[in-house]
Amino acid sequence: MELGLRGRTAVVTGGSLGIGRAIARKLAQEGVAVAIVARDASRLDAAAAEIARETNARCIAIPADLTDAAQLEAAMAAAQAGLGSIDILVNNAGATPMGRIGGTPDEVWMKSINLKLMGYMRCARILTPPMRARRWGRVINIIGRSGHQPRPNYITGSAVNASLLSFTLALAAECAPDNVLVTGVNPGPIATPRWDTVVAQGAADMGRSAEAENAAAVASVALGRVGTPEECSGLVAFLCSDRAGFITGTNIDIDGGGTRCI
Ligand SMILES: NC(=O)c1ccc[n+]([C@@H]2O[C@H](COP(=O)([O-])OP(=O)(O)OC[C@H]3O[C@@H](n4cnc5c(N)ncnc54)[C@H](OP(=O)(O)O)[C@@H]3O)[C@@H](O)[C@H]2O)c1
Repeated sequence: MELGLRGRTAVVTGGSLGIGRAIARKLAQEGVAVAIVARDASRLDAAAAEIARETNARCIAIPADLTDAAQLEAAMAAAQAGLGSIDILVNNAGATPMGRIGGTPDEVWMKSINLKLMGYMRCARILTPPMRARRWGRVINIIGRSGHQPRPNYITGSAVNASLLSFTLALAAECAPDNVLVTGVNPGPIATPRWDTVVAQGAADMGRSAEAENAAAVASVALGRVGTPEECSGLVAFLCSDRAGFITGTNIDIDGGGTRCI
């Protein structure tokens, strides 16, 4: 299916690994010029070079710690300077650790809030006004099913993701009159470096092996397996396209049927 994205520009946060990297690659395959943002500059440079080589699209690397407002602002300015106006924002960088209330100090809460809630909001606050002025734009927030299926041993992630489900709908209503569409995507378990970390942390919490922890997670998925980053990136590319021009203000689960709620 021709998505008609050729010539668009995008910022993908957390684009050096996992889901974000797959999204950056997929958008680049569709002819989108992409800026990827993450902390580890050498990993980011390698990802940008590989994506550009594989797709012949422009992919620039902008190192920044998105928990830091000043670094985030500088990164968004660098993306605009490097690519011109930005049509698509994919908010994806997240790193909330597993943990229960008793074992989660304020610093962990604040880091997670600063990266995922404040980071997503700040990127959108900078990039949506020019999109609205041009009357075309997309914001895709990669959130997580814990936002509506909270778990006691992922209490910070559950609370932050729940706030992003609401943020997505409010921002969508704000931006819809200017044809800037805002959608949340809730992955279930997806095979990324983060998933391995989450499994190891969950196994330690439950006092069982990583294999047993992974099996328990898979058992919660109707399709009986962990998903792939590419399965997420296909959905995101579609949502960025004009084929999805009537989709906004909603949160879409991509979780192999693992979330059952009305
Ligand atoms: N994988 C899953 O099963 C799953 C399920 C539900 C939701 N999600 C969500 O999907 C998103 C991506 O997850 P993933 O599994 O692809 O994670 P991942 O493999 O750990 O990749 C995370 C990316 O974010 C970047 N990042 C982390 N902290 C950052 C910071 N402070 N500033 C800038 N960049 C930062 C990382 O690069 P650096 O470390 O170099 O900064 C990396 O590029 C996250 O929001 C996650 O919560 C994932």
